[in-house]
Amino acid sequence: MLDVLFKRRSIRKYQDKPIESGKIKELIKALLLSPSSRDKKPWEFIVVDDRELLKKLATSKTGSATFLSGAALGIVIIADSQKSDVWVEDSSIASIILQLMGESIGLGSCWIQIRERWHDSGQRAGDYIKTLLNIPEPYQVESIIAMGYPAENKPPHNESQLPYDKVHFNTFGKDA
Ligand SMILES: Cc1cc2nc3c(=O)[nH]c(=O)nc-3n(C[C@H](O)[C@H](O)[C@H](O)COP(=O)(O)O)c2cc1C
Repeated sequence: MLDVLFKRRSIRKYQDKPIESGKIKELIKALLLSPSSRDKKPWEFIVVDDRELLKKLATSKTGSATFLSGAALGIVIIADSQKSDVWVEDSSIASIILQLMGESIGLGSCWIQIRERWHDSGQRAGDYIKTLLNIPEPYQVESIIAMGYPAENKPPHNESQLPYDKVHFNTFGKDA
């Protein structure tokens, strides 16, 4: 597990190569195994592999999503906000579990934040996506996880740079 966590980096450049259906099934299993508060599973997932849709999703918000147009997949993570008051947490957990699953089977990924972000037109990024993908109310869009075979090499995280000063023992400010 630590090996996967050290190696996972945000990958924004992808090979022009589809992800095998067996691997997509594994990604979907990982999503559906995500824990949720009171086991309410308020999330749903839209797996997008249509290039034209990916290009349109890449314009969901101002900047920092453009690389999605070159990804093999974009997994849109949505949740029914009426099913759970902690849908943000549940959707975030599913998002990172998906990224870690991807890393463990040789795929690169990057989180694209949608909730609280804005489209160029002035509407919410989530509303733009809801119209594009026919997502009904009361669903909210948390994120899109871009995924594909990496076309960039990023070094793994470095153990010597972990911010241990953020960890406290028993009371705030106390080292081990
Ligand atoms: C909640 C969240 C939102 C993020 N949103 C974006 C985004 O919209 N666009 C993007 O390119 N990267 C996004 N990232 C990726 C971060 O920039 C990245 O994880 C961070 O810089 C650390 O780099 P690393 O993932 O390589 O460890 C997001 C990450 C998280 C956890």
